Amino acid sequence: MMLAQETIPPDEALAIERLLRANLKTVWMAGKTAKRGQHGKHHGLAEGTFRIRDDLPASLAHGVFQPGQSYRCLVRFSNGEQLDDREEDVRGMAIKLLDVGGTKLLPGRGDRPEQDFLLIDSPTYFTATMADYLAFNRHFTPLQDLRRNGRTPGRLLRAAWGLAMLGVCHRDTLKAAQRMAGRRVGSPLALRYHSTTPYLLGPGQAVKYKAIGQTPDPGPTQEVDGLCGALWTALGQGPASFDFGVVVQDDPAAQPIEDPTVDWEENGARFTPVATLTLPQQENAADKDALAETLRFNPWMSLPDHRPLGYINRARREVYRAMADLRQRKTRPG
Ligand code: HEM
Repeated sequence: MMLAQETIPPDEALAIERLLRANLKTVWMAGKTAKRGQHGKHHGLAEGTFRIRDDLPASLAHGVFQPGQSYRCLVRFSNGEQLDDREEDVRGMAIKLLDVGGTKLLPGRGDRPEQDFLLIDSPTYFTATMADYLAFNRHFTPLQDLRRNGRTPGRLLRAAWGLAMLGVCHRDTLKAAQRMAGRRVGSPLALRYHSTTPYLLGPGQAVKYKAIGQTPDPGPTQEVDGLCGALWTALGQGPASFDFGVVVQDDPAAQPIEDPTVDWEENGARFTPVATLTLPQQENAADKDALAETLRFNPWMSLPDHRPLGYINRARREVYRAMADLRQRKTRPG
C-alpha cells in the first residue's frame, strides 16, 4: 500500500446509486425553500479572507496553497441534523474560496472560480465502509423523515422500526455516530473542524484539512438559535479567525485512505498550519441568509491538486450534486 492510494471495490457504483436515491428523499420544504437533507439549519454565512502563510513549506505548496496568496471566501456554519442548537449534534463549516482560477473536478461546473473545503467538528467519520454506511442510512432516514415532515401513522411505524434495527443490528455504528455527533456547543467560532476524509495535496501526498477556531469557548448554548446568536454577536463586535492547516499522511497503514473512522493525528500524522482564515467584523443580512440556503458546496468543487480521496468522498460527488440540483428545482422564488 502506497501513500495516497485508493482502493475501489467493484460494486461501488451500484452502492453510490442506492445512496443517492435514499438521500434524494431527505430534502424537505420550509415555506418556499427546499432545505438540505443534512446540515439544513445554518447559523450564518460569513464573508472572509483566506491567506496562505508566507513561509509555507515547499512540500505543501500545491493548488491554492501558494505562499502569500490571499482569497476572498464565504463560510457557511451549520448543524448536522438538529433544529434546536441546545441538542447534541455535529456542526459543519463549509468554506468556499472565491476567484480561484483553473478547471475544477466537479462535472458540469468545472469552470466556476471556486474551491470548496467541507469540515465538521469531529476528527473522524462514523462508518469504515460503504456497506456500513448504507446499512445505517437505510434505518436512519425514516427518523429524519419523521422529524422533518411530521407525524403520520406510517412515518411513526417506519421510524420505530428503523430505531429498533439500529439498536439491535447496528449497535456499534450507532455508538460511533453518537460519538461523532455527541457535543453541545456554544459558538461556531470556537470549534475545531476537520475534513475527516482525505484529499490529495499534489502528486502522491494525502492530507486531511483542519480549522482551529481562535475564539474562546463560551460553553453550551441555552437557546434554540443560540449558535446563530453567538456567531453574529461576536462578528458584530470584531473579527474572528481560524488557523487552517493540513494533517499529512506519512504511514499508509496507520493512516488509511479508505477508513475515515481512524484519527490520523492519534496515529502519528502531524498538523502543519497553512493559512489564516479571518472573518472581519460584519453584520448578518437577509441576502446572506438567502445565499446560505441556495449556495452549493461539494468536495469535488476542487482543483485536481486537491482531489478528494476515499469511498465517502467518491460517493459525495454525485450525492451533493443531485441534492443541490433538487433544492434548486424545488425552491420557489420570493
Ligand atoms: C457518504 C457520506 C455522506 C453523505 C451521504 C453526506 C450527505 C450530505 C448531504 C445530502 C448534504 C446536503 C447537500 C446539499 O443539499 O447540497 C451534506 C452536507 C454537508 N456535509 Fe455531508 N455527507 C456525507 C459525509 C460527510 C463528511 C465525511 C463530512 C465531513 C466533513 C460532511 C460534511 C458536510 C457538510 C459540512 C455539509 C454542509 C455543506 C453546506 O454548508 O452546504 N459530510 N452532506
